[in-house]
Amino acid sequence: MNITPLGAAVGVEITGIQLAELEGAALDALKMQVYENGVAVIRDQELSPDQHIAFAKRWGGIDVNPFFPTNSGWPEIAEVRKAEDQKDNIGGGWHTDHSFDQVPAMGSILVARELPPVGGDTLFSSMGAAYDALSVGLKQTLAGLNAVHSADHIYQPGGYYSKTDLADEMTGQELSTRAVHPVVIRHPVTGRKLLYINGAFTTHFEGWTREETLPLLRYLIEVGSREQFQCCVQWEPGSVAIWDNRATWHLAMNDYHGHRRVMHRITLTGEPIAA
Ligand code: OGA
Ligand code: MN
Repeated sequence: MNITPLGAAVGVEITGIQLAELEGAALDALKMQVYENGVAVIRDQELSPDQHIAFAKRWGGIDVNPFFPTNSGWPEIAEVRKAEDQKDNIGGGWHTDHSFDQVPAMGSILVARELPPVGGDTLFSSMGAAYDALSVGLKQTLAGLNAVHSADHIYQPGGYYSKTDLADEMTGQELSTRAVHPVVIRHPVTGRKLLYINGAFTTHFEGWTREETLPLLRYLIEVGSREQFQCCVQWEPGSVAIWDNRATWHLAMNDYHGHRRVMHRITLTGEPIAA
């Protein structure tokens, strides 16, 4: 396994392994790379959908998002697709997946299937580095705080995702997503302190109004999206990215209008999170 950093605070590029065959100690070593660095992009993979599912099962459990159509033909695989004539993309703002679940997903395994000729990168940002950058005073304020997370405003008819490729399959679904999590959590494996709010799903701090929440939430979002905490995953045919949803945010660039992009995503089951 050859490992090269992608950014100062987050991300590694890995060559010299084949996920289709990876198991045992080598799989454990890859897991640690993802937990410690937030995201790993693994190059030159030959991973069929069935091998993608088998690898995810060797990693741990698979979470199926009930709001996200799979489209791929495999119930475990969500197709993240933008068509040639589509304007809005999926994941185009900074977010972490599934923070509205009681036990948020550990992360995702995203496989490049069809790429635009240029663009379509995915950015990642380190929530450990974002937390470390806060003052002692603000860290103390956040230590006692919980935040409410929901996806209803995004998945509901007329919400952001009604403008993307998910629209057709989403109409008429009962929506009620809500979870409360500490604003600062400890990574379940590394123990690192992480800022755990995000601009997509965090609606307000528990016990605070939305109006009271917004100035501080906006500040934290600004810190989390600072360039020095980011890395950029540039996709190539055969690239697979595995990220840790607790330790990072991500953002799918929408800079390839007129071209099609298709990714296959499997979401990995997480463990309970706590302060
Ligand atoms: C996702 C997502 C990013 C991308 O699948 O959760 O945000 O680059 N995708 O497609
Ligand atoms: Mn996402």
